[in-house]
Amino acid sequence: MPTRRNLLRAASLAAVPALAGCDGNDAYARLANETWRLPAAPPEAMQLRRELVRCATLAPSSHNTQCWRFRLGERGIDILPDLARRCPAVDPDDHHLHVSLGCAAENLVQAALHHGWHAQATAAAGGGVAITLEATTARSTPLYGAVAQRQSTRGEYDGRPLSTPELGLLEQAGSGQGVRVLMITGRAAMEQLLALVVAGNTAQMRDAAFVAELKDWIRFSPGEAARSGDGLYTACTGNPTVPRWLGSPLFDLFFTADGENDKYSRQIRSSAGLAVFVSDGDDPAHWIETGRCVERFALQATALDIRTAYLNQPVEVAALRPQLAALLGIGTRRPDLVVRFGRGPRLPVSLRRPLAAVIDTL
Ligand SMILES: Cc1cc2nc3c(=O)[nH]c(=O)nc-3n(C[C@H](O)[C@H](O)[C@H](O)COP(=O)(O)O)c2cc1C
Repeated sequence: MPTRRNLLRAASLAAVPALAGCDGNDAYARLANETWRLPAAPPEAMQLRRELVRCATLAPSSHNTQCWRFRLGERGIDILPDLARRCPAVDPDDHHLHVSLGCAAENLVQAALHHGWHAQATAAAGGGVAITLEATTARSTPLYGAVAQRQSTRGEYDGRPLSTPELGLLEQAGSGQGVRVLMITGRAAMEQLLALVVAGNTAQMRDAAFVAELKDWIRFSPGEAARSGDGLYTACTGNPTVPRWLGSPLFDLFFTADGENDKYSRQIRSSAGLAVFVSDGDDPAHWIETGRCVERFALQATALDIRTAYLNQPVEVAALRPQLAALLGIGTRRPDLVVRFGRGPRLPVSLRRPLAAVIDTL
């Protein structure tokens, strides 16, 4: 049996790349560069739809599952749910899955406009989003410029407030059809929300199914991240990179509710504010629209050099939603998402699967 001390020693050895698990550093670096870029020249007509899909896949998705498939058709592109990538423990009703589809749709809309196409998003027949494309005047928005820069930055921020014009731009970007974003910048209200994050995290850490599902999506080394092209690469959360044989027992030993709660306290207290997204309805169409709004919010923040990160524990633990709704004064409506924002250093990027893995027809 490995002792705690031996595991710690192994972990510190693993911090030396030559000795241990930083397999795949080169592969990770190459994929990171290839993934997080915008084309210098407009794509050939035949390549346009593939480029739009590529931009869509740069969107965030819950646990970086990339729970989408893209069907290329005559008049446009359908973004369909990939139900093989659902996360039943953290997301039993597929709320986050549909939000992720909405995030992808928003990236696609912004990229299409840049390339001279108006993208109209409606509900797809079998679920998901149907996007029709019509030629229009090309227009490059700051949001498009941010598509390959945005990341969920899970470090601590610098604690400084944002200016009123910046808060206004974020609020505007995060609002949509039947969706609004509540901006919380008062320290007392942020502490109340922190208490719900802590309660949610504590409940999730006691749930064996939640922890097993989360661990399944963790990629402990750059090589593991590069091979799968999906999941939660530990460096993106500021954690050490080690081989899975070592990361797995370390996770079991050191991933504790108290440790995570301390981290969330520091993260929220160092943030400029919290944004809670609330929609008028509780169904896949509204969840997709919420996804479009949260992605516009994140892209607008990125364009202003402001970082964002999700903290969804109080909306994922269903028993806590009424308390959060009471705190926000939104009656019986379901709070959809919680995001913190502020300025701070970037962290390593997450990866994506190749287009061939997500496109149904070419
Ligand atoms: C609907 C949704 C819910 C998410 N919830 C959380 C969360 O609660 N905590 C977190 O750290 N990240 C959360 N994320 C962020 C994803 O883990 C992240 O988007 C993914 O790992 C890809 O990384 P990137 O956003 O840096 O590209 C969420 C993303 C989406 C779209």
